[in-house]
Amino acid sequence: MVQAIKTTESSDVMQAKLKGKDFLSIADFSTAEILYLLEEAKELKKLQKSGIPHPYLAGKVLGMLFEKSSTRTRVSFEVGMLQLGGHAIFLSPRDIQLGRGESIHDTAIVLSRYLDALMIRTFSHESIQEFAHHADVPIINGLTDPHHPVQVMADLQTIIEYKGKLDGLKLCYVGDGNNNVTHSLIEAAAKVGMHISVASPEKYRPNQEIVAKALEDAKLTGSTISIITDPIEAMKDADVVVTDVWTSMGMEAEAQERLQAFQAYQVNEELCSYAKSDYIFMHCLPAHRGEEVTADIIDGPHSVVFDEAENRLHAQKAILKAVIL
Ligand code: CP
Ligand code: NVA
Repeated sequence: MVQAIKTTESSDVMQAKLKGKDFLSIADFSTAEILYLLEEAKELKKLQKSGIPHPYLAGKVLGMLFEKSSTRTRVSFEVGMLQLGGHAIFLSPRDIQLGRGESIHDTAIVLSRYLDALMIRTFSHESIQEFAHHADVPIINGLTDPHHPVQVMADLQTIIEYKGKLDGLKLCYVGDGNNNVTHSLIEAAAKVGMHISVASPEKYRPNQEIVAKALEDAKLTGSTISIITDPIEAMKDADVVVTDVWTSMGMEAEAQERLQAFQAYQVNEELCSYAKSDYIFMHCLPAHRGEEVTADIIDGPHSVVFDEAENRLHAQKAILKAVIL
């Protein structure tokens, strides 16, 4: 179905549409734009693997502001800029005046005078929206409490690599339904015609507004979105199985309560026996073996988590090239 609405616009037109755009959530992008970025990610991965230089962003500088910890996001954005011929600067609130109370307004305007784009990992989505409102350069969301769009672009790239397509597949997410990865997956599934089943305890269901908007998008692509509490039902005939930590960054005070609440939502051999026999297992990492997923699954033959982690690099290079160039 997605193929039917796939753009016929040239890459020049797509590039013109994306230039200067913020990358705050998947829902902000059209199906055509997402598919274009995934094609670009595939090409950039090919160039990198072939050792062919691709300095599209020579002389360009990305700022990277982290208010939460990161391994993958920090390193993949920095390496991505270097591979594109540009440079990246790591900014921690401890080191810049934002951490001493300088306003987002002033920080965004000042940083826009030096940088070509700014990637931000922070808590509230409103903060990153405020940055985007005041900045003159593209703002890229490197994770907020409710969204992790750059992760999910890498997830889509990985699914295509293993399954050859997105539309018509069934993705099953088991665990914390109310976190950033789940929300971005729901938005993405709706955009690309993938069916998604999310199983989580009642208290940890996905955000209703995000689901409502995704249901609207799903009408255009034929995707179905099912938000339930039964992990077995969600898992039945899944092509792609995904989970994430039970306690996301910033929720540490609830860790004990969550450990109890999610006991029945562990991705393990028994649960995965309901998925298709050739399912792939994905996790954005970092993972807690023995909590949201057992070691035999994440380290087993269905797991693609390290390709998924690698694809952060390629998917983000496509985003950087599109919004900066
Ligand atoms: N998946 C992910 O965003 O990892 P980091 O927290 O290490 O950046
Ligand atoms: N949901 C997790 C993702 C980590 C990359 C968190 O927010 O901590």
